[in-house]
Order: sequence, then C-alpha cells, then structure tokens
Amino acid sequence: MTLALTNLISTYQTRVEKCFMHYLEKMTTPAPILCEAMRYGVLNGGKRIRPLLVYATGLALGATLEDLDAAACAVELIHSYSLIHDDLPAMDNADLRRGKPACHKKYGEAMAILAGDALQALAFEIIVTHPASLTPTQRLETMRILGKTSGPSGMAGGQALDITIMNNRITLSELLHLYSLKTGALLQASVKLGVIAANIVDSQTQAALENYAENLGLAFQIHDDLLDMEGTTATLGKPQGIDSINNKTTYPVLCGIEKTKEKIHALTNEALAAIDILDTQGNILKEVAHYLLQRTH
Ligand code: IPE
Ligand code: IPE
Ligand code: MG
Ligand code: MG
Ligand code: MG
Repeated sequence: MTLALTNLISTYQTRVEKCFMHYLEKMTTPAPILCEAMRYGVLNGGKRIRPLLVYATGLALGATLEDLDAAACAVELIHSYSLIHDDLPAMDNADLRRGKPACHKKYGEAMAILAGDALQALAFEIIVTHPASLTPTQRLETMRILGKTSGPSGMAGGQALDITIMNNRITLSELLHLYSLKTGALLQASVKLGVIAANIVDSQTQAALENYAENLGLAFQIHDDLLDMEGTTATLGKPQGIDSINNKTTYPVLCGIEKTKEKIHALTNEALAAIDILDTQGNILKEVAHYLLQRTH
C-alpha cells in the first residue's frame, strides 16, 4: 500500500468515526434502548469501504474533507442498517456480524428492525443538516442518489431479489443484475456522492467513474461470495459458509472457484481501465481497487 492510501485510510477512518460518535452519542429519544441498538450496529469496526470511496473520489476531484463528511457518514449508516436487516432470521439468519453477535441476537428482532429504520432516517437528516459548504442543490442531489440507490431499484430491490430468486435456478446475468443492485448500488452511490460534493459536472468524468464503480461493485460481491467459501468465521467476523446453508446461488456456485477468481480480477481490471482517462487524478481510486482485491474479510 502506498503512503497516499495509508494516509487517506487513517484520515477518513478518524473523520468518519468522529462523525458517527457526534450523531450517535447525542441522540435523544424516549427509547434509549433504540439508540443503544443503533450504536451497536454501527460502532463495531466495519471496514468502512463506502466512506473510503466517498473520500477517495471527492478528494481526487478537489472536494474538501469537510464537504465529504456528511455523505461518507450517511452512506455507511445506510450500509450498516442493511447489514442489521440482512442478518435477521427472516433474511440470512446470521448470528454474527463484524465479530460480535448480530444486532437482533443482542437486542431482539423488533429492536434490530427499528435500529435499521432509524439509521436510515438519520442518514437523510445528516445530509440536510450537517455543517458544510455544500449548496442546497448538492444536498438535494445527494439525497436523491442515496434514496435511489438504497430503495426499490437499488439495495432494497436487490435484497428482495436475493430472497425471492437466489434459491431458485437463475442465470449468470440475473445473478449479476441482483449483485449490482444489492451491493453495487451503494458502492456506486459512494463514488457519485464524492462527485457531487466536488461539484463535477463533466459527463466524461462522471461516466468513467460510474463505470469504475459498477465494475468494482460486482467484484466486491463476488469476492464476498468467495470469502464465504474460503474464509474462516474468525477472520470474516460473520458465519463462514452461510450462503450454502441458505442454499444461495452465488457466483462460485455457478462458475466454480477458479473462474470466480478470474472474474474478480477481470472486473477489477475493467474498473482500473475505466478511469484511465482521469490520468493521475485517478491514482488513489486505482489504489483503492487494488486494496479491495487484497481484502480477506
Ligand atoms: C458486506 O459488506 C456486505 C456486502 C455488501 C458484501 P462489507 O464487506 O463492506 O462489510 P463491513 O461493512 O466491512 O462489515
Ligand atoms: C449483501 O449480501 C448484503 C447487503 C446488501 C446488506 P450478503 O448477504 O452476502 O452480505 P453478508 O455476507 O451477509 O455480509
Ligand atoms: Mg444477504
Ligand atoms: Mg448476509
Ligand atoms: Mg455474503
């Protein structure tokens, strides 16, 4: 890892965790147990890949750190909510998340559902209220993208497909479509939010970054599937082998391990090639792509 990426990782992690503490510590509610469940579902050592993409994209395009905080925080709150719900007995029925009992194991299903709901709402509130030099138009566009990518034609839609068709026979292209929704959408949002904060309207740059994020999103989920087969529960911090327990059709199930590895590399190469036109401005995003390729959980 180069010094630039090491520095970026430590900077953004400190900032995003500070932002979480700020919003999650000072919440007021007549139901403190809800706040506890929300904190439990967020302040638990996720890799924070989506904030990394927000900061890496935004900084590469000239945004300030201050203008990226709200988007980084919001997208990770939505991602954390999606994981809390994903683990529920009605969905993947997973007991372990980020190395600890899943939220519903600790707080019960009802509180886990509500914690997810409340984290999603908080994300949108933060986009509106977080102090930054973002214009109302930038904030609105950020909300639009987050709404679109987490809703019926994004993450939630993908999760619904995951439940309805993953344990049937599905084609490879149906599977990839599902992946681009359930996982790709929020990763694409992360890149887009960086573009919005930097106020980049050049359509060539936008298209290049979209292409980068699309390929990275697919590679990310396929890699996650591979780790489910080849990782260990201790390293993953979530139950290894749960996809097969749940009878999910995943990329490695359809294509085998070797082809899966090749596909992750091919998609990463596509992502890298997509941002060639950004020249040196794209360097940090290229490093992020390599970094994701090496991840073990
Ligand atoms: C896990 O996402 C769920 C998928 C979309 C594959 P991450 O691998 O980013 O999980 P955390 O946030 O680091 O726990
Ligand atoms: C992605 O799929 C989940 C979300 C979109 C929340 P998985 O179900 O494979 O994610 P993990 O493996 O439980 O983290
Ligand atoms: Mg799932
Ligand atoms: Mg799951
Ligand atoms: Mg998985």
